Amino acid sequence: MAQLAERPAAATPYVGKTGDPCVMVIFGAAGDLTARLLLPALYNLARADLLPKEFAVLGVARAQMSDDDFRKRIREDVKQYCGECIDDSIWESFVRRFYYLPGNFNDDDLYPRVRDRLTQIDREHSTHENFFYYMATAPSYFGLIVEKLAAIGFMDQSNGHWRRVVIEKPFGHDLESAKILNQQLLKLADEKQIYRIDHYLGKETVQNIMAFRFANGIFEPIWNRRYIDHVQISVAETVGVEGRGSYFDHAGTLRDMVPNHIMQLISLTSMEPPISFDANAVRDEQAKILHAIQPLSNEEVLTRTVRGQYEEGIIGGQRVPAYRNEEDIPPDSRTETFVAMKLLIDNWRWADVPFYLRTGKRMPVRNTHIVIQFRRAPFVLFRDTSVEHLMPNQLVLHIQPEEGISLQFAAKVPGPVMRLGSVDMNFEYQQYFGKQPSTGYERLLHDCMIGDQTLFQRADMVEAGWSVVNPVLDLWKALPPRNFPNYPAGSWGPKEADELIERDGRCWRNFTE
Ligand code: BG6
Repeated sequence: MAQLAERPAAATPYVGKTGDPCVMVIFGAAGDLTARLLLPALYNLARADLLPKEFAVLGVARAQMSDDDFRKRIREDVKQYCGECIDDSIWESFVRRFYYLPGNFNDDDLYPRVRDRLTQIDREHSTHENFFYYMATAPSYFGLIVEKLAAIGFMDQSNGHWRRVVIEKPFGHDLESAKILNQQLLKLADEKQIYRIDHYLGKETVQNIMAFRFANGIFEPIWNRRYIDHVQISVAETVGVEGRGSYFDHAGTLRDMVPNHIMQLISLTSMEPPISFDANAVRDEQAKILHAIQPLSNEEVLTRTVRGQYEEGIIGGQRVPAYRNEEDIPPDSRTETFVAMKLLIDNWRWADVPFYLRTGKRMPVRNTHIVIQFRRAPFVLFRDTSVEHLMPNQLVLHIQPEEGISLQFAAKVPGPVMRLGSVDMNFEYQQYFGKQPSTGYERLLHDCMIGDQTLFQRADMVEAGWSVVNPVLDLWKALPPRNFPNYPAGSWGPKEADELIERDGRCWRNFTE
């Protein structure tokens, strides 16, 4: 275990100012995202005393409910998804801020009702007409709802108040549709009002990539092609489609994970140091990297990408069905549940350093990590150990479920002869900072309230992410897979994914727990 410096006095992740007075309007308030993530995150913010004193929530959804029904439901959701007991000393004042309005997003008459209800809530809670609209809806409603809000004047900021809109993923289903949605939104609102969310940026360990790289003087000088051999990013999930079959079968793993979450991991790992932590300074550097990723030609899509779909198998001792036998999945589906790719970044820092990515459902363990593999020592002085047997140094950023950083290096094995072995130096978040109740959405919601867009996607970044995957989508569509299903649930994906990296004389690092 590494020796750690003095522990910070208060290890809370949300230290900071409370946001401006405001009302959060949740479109899709009766859905899964609201129950699992938004409500528990708001509750955690309330417990950390980071909600503005003048704050309220208006839930809008199709289900018929009164304010009281909604409040009862919130209690059940928070109890179920917070995983901790409700603190009665804050509950009453928390839940009193919630209101509900039933309605269909397609109905024109919903929006004047939203206006009236919001005006009344605003008066009651003195929220200064600051509103942020959270689109926890199906993607087909994103543009429509903002259009209707603009039509009743509720995107307008000319009176000194602010209006913000939070857009969930998926943001488009390819480059073209993402561009169309951006154009539609930017006609109705300024870029500064649009918060495109990617929940990976809410994860502490993802944000820590920047702290690790730029708050420490010792890593940046070796963070480049002279010292780094390659980078591996693995996002392994044990879950299948979990009741989301109809969405997932249209999307597939490439769309679902790569242009968004994996692009965040790549850009934070490889970007240049920003000149400040100003939202645009950070996002400019991320965008530059996304633009520098070499677009794949058709030939390269064939040789540098792998797709897979799981068949029946065993995970953690349990038999799980094949993808094609999951609920709402057609028995002849050709949708991929696994993707592996090799990408190159065309700039001075990273030229010729491969970035290998893989992500899949029904892998043997849930584990997201980034491996930075350094070049081997050029020459080995030690008898009995040849260069080939010396493990290269690997720095591993463990994103989840283990959260931490480890460095693998060579050490002398005790004994009379000089022999080398690989050892690990570990930093574990939880051991040092303790466990914080967090869904990953706390920081993002808090940032919306204080108007900080650093952790949100700008229009150009979303489009750049899609530009990377679009050639793959096109070629895969033109050449449907013939060998699906091609990996058993509970394995690390199809053998072609191993071949992809082994061809280059490298191998995946698999963590088994
Ligand atoms: C979502 C995808 O965006 O991310 C899901 O739609 C995926 O399919 C999930 O399971 C993974 O998120 P996390 O936080 O569990 O890694």
